Amino acid sequence: MNQDTLQATAQAMVAPGKGILAMDESHPTCQKRFDALGIEFTEANRQAYRDMLVTAEGLADCIGGAILFDETLRQNLLDGTSFPKHLDSIGIVPGIKVDRGAKDLAGHPGEKVTEGLDGLRERLAEYSELGARFAKWRAVITIGENLPSEACLEANAHALARYAMLCQEADMVPIVEPEVLMNGAHDIERCNEVTVRTLEVTFDQLARQEVWLPGIVLKPSMVISGDSCGVRADVETVARMTVECLKQTVPTEVTGIAFLSGGQSDEEASAHLNAINQYSNLPWAVTFSYGRALQQQAMKTWSGEQGNRAAGQAAIAKRARMNSAAASGAWNMDLEQAA
Ligand code: 13P
Repeated sequence: MNQDTLQATAQAMVAPGKGILAMDESHPTCQKRFDALGIEFTEANRQAYRDMLVTAEGLADCIGGAILFDETLRQNLLDGTSFPKHLDSIGIVPGIKVDRGAKDLAGHPGEKVTEGLDGLRERLAEYSELGARFAKWRAVITIGENLPSEACLEANAHALARYAMLCQEADMVPIVEPEVLMNGAHDIERCNEVTVRTLEVTFDQLARQEVWLPGIVLKPSMVISGDSCGVRADVETVARMTVECLKQTVPTEVTGIAFLSGGQSDEEASAHLNAINQYSNLPWAVTFSYGRALQQQAMKTWSGEQGNRAAGQAAIAKRARMNSAAASGAWNMDLEQAA
């Protein structure tokens, strides 16, 4: 493990005013998003769409890292440059999703465990050759009556820690993503309880595997009300409870925390990140690693039509700028409307 390399990569991914663009949708997820907009699910369309994203003007001012799916890491832009080469050339660190998805956890109805450890050392070696300098693994935790179980938390945290150590062995920064799903009628207190426990178990397992914390980026969900909760907590409450939860569970050595958006609207995701960054003296860089909250407007605007490419690029560039401002605590509604 080369600690200098790991720390430099982690710092570049979450540099001041920068966040991470999650554009690593697996084929089934990408198809779901394309289908909803009537975009034909072809390799050419996936290439054209992702080319549009990464060539948007000014992107690298706001984005420090981009998470790619296997296909994209091996693909070329429309001009023939490979995706990882292009990203590197504009100062965005290329990364790769390496998990193989959340599968049903045996004996635990309603719960998932993420697979993908078998052969991971060999896959990381190949991804590193192809230019990836960091990786992502997403664990999924469901809140429900009597869920999550400790068994589910432990199985997922153990896999995250083994994945993280394999990444560091290959001098690649692991994004450690234990996502507590926002789906459900639970209130913010319940989300807090589950998120605290999830992060405790995760950092316990990371410590047992001797993962080097300055060489990881944590990608958590925010502490937030369930999407069908009758009374949803306001922005200030989400920020306060999220900061308290992280201070309680995340060691100060961790270089960066980059939130997922998890189904929040574009403006909610920016408002929450901004409010979190109003807190001073946070020991980590705190930024975004959004998928939907960066991309959904751009994908809708593009809708598979070459003629909409410039408008789609304007849409992704705007969300990148808004979230970059939020990562510095400088976002507000005026900025949103002026942009
Ligand atoms: P969302 O921001 O759409 O939740 O996606 C982030 C991500 O990478 C999930 O793994």
